[in-house]
Amino acid sequence: MSTKKKLNIGLIGGGFMGRTHSNGYNRVANFFPALQYTPVLKAVCFRNESKLKGFAEQWGYESTETDWRKMIKRNDIDAIDICTPNDTHAEIAIAAAAAGKMILCEKPLARNLEESQQMVDAITKAGVANTVWYNYRRLPAVTLAKQIIGSGKLGQIFHYRANFLQDWTINASLPQGGEGLWRMDAAVAGSGVLGDLLSHCIDTAMWLNGGIKDVTAMSETFIKERMHQLTGKVEKVGIDDACSFLCHFSNGSLGLFESTRYARGHKALYTFEINGANASIRWDLHDLNRLEYFDNSDESIVKGWRSIHVTDGDQPYMNKWWVPGLGIGYEHSFVHQVADFLESLETGKPCSPTFAEAHQTQLVCNAVQESAKSGSWKNTGVSN
Ligand SMILES: NC(=O)c1ccc[n+]([C@@H]2O[C@H](COP(=O)([O-])OP(=O)(O)OC[C@H]3O[C@@H](n4cnc5c(N)ncnc54)[C@H](O)[C@@H]3O)[C@@H](O)[C@H]2O)c1
Repeated sequence: MSTKKKLNIGLIGGGFMGRTHSNGYNRVANFFPALQYTPVLKAVCFRNESKLKGFAEQWGYESTETDWRKMIKRNDIDAIDICTPNDTHAEIAIAAAAAGKMILCEKPLARNLEESQQMVDAITKAGVANTVWYNYRRLPAVTLAKQIIGSGKLGQIFHYRANFLQDWTINASLPQGGEGLWRMDAAVAGSGVLGDLLSHCIDTAMWLNGGIKDVTAMSETFIKERMHQLTGKVEKVGIDDACSFLCHFSNGSLGLFESTRYARGHKALYTFEINGANASIRWDLHDLNRLEYFDNSDESIVKGWRSIHVTDGDQPYMNKWWVPGLGIGYEHSFVHQVADFLESLETGKPCSPTFAEAHQTQLVCNAVQESAKSGSWKNTGVSN
């Protein structure tokens, strides 16, 4: 008989993230066999009843719910996983915390600072385990970047540069809002590329390079009015289509961030580059197993950017997968986050980013939004 402890999962939302998380829960025991906890797919909940049963069958959920409130009340659920659009995160998380459930919440933590503060307060009061799915941290090449920076190899860091570029909304006839299009609706999403894309860049940046002190930003909405799918009315668009900002990190380095859904030709190009006195690092989501590294102390005859294929067993997470030389994919970052969350239950050490840490990202997003409106520099209030 298995001596593993069961962690009963209640997943809310069966779209893009519902699938990546379900895959994570299903894969983790095979590839992280030493973990004491094993996730059990107890229940899945979303509103589209016609797809709910099929989803449950496809991914192996034992039961279904159409109302998340019912799911939260169930005694056979230990952890609530929030994979719904941003306008639901606060309400669900606060109710789940009050019911004593552990919470794994999708990013951005909330639509705005007020909501995210309430979520942090609720989780602190309840004292339940929590994490936010800023999953890019858990791609092996990005985790390796963290280790290299932590070892001091870069020396003093001068610059941090990040981009997240897409092109899927360059189309005036695309409606704002509705099923599958909630990212276009400011009332649901909270913001456009800022919360959707830049929040990822900010999370990774503060993890790798420390707190962001202050920002100056600009944002643009290129298509000013769109038809709303739910009302049929043409209405003013409230989201940012593009948003960029400059910042100071508390370690003295300068940051430059750009995100847009109007970079024709780019579907999901997330890149970052860090320049230190002794070495530089750069990473590109389109080639996610590689980390590029330039070391100024290399002999001049071999000096140049190296491309590290992060697939060796002594590199982050890779001893859990195949053999050296064989890469992994986007979906593995979610398997890793599940594994790290389960491990955190064994060790009692929080699974980063926690709600409190994701709230720091929300502070930066808030300052970016305010600066883009006012045109002036804004302090973020980030704590480190
Ligand atoms: N970590 C990442 O890289 C990443 C990537 C994509 C999305 N996200 C985040 O994940 C969340 C979901 O995004 P998505 O792309 O999966 O969206 P999606 O539109 O693909 O899926 C949303 C799901 O939520 C369900 N839903 C909506 N309102 C609900 C309610 N009140 N009760 C129950 N179910 C409800 C819908 O029926 C649908 O199944 C968002 O917060 C988004 O920002 C994160």
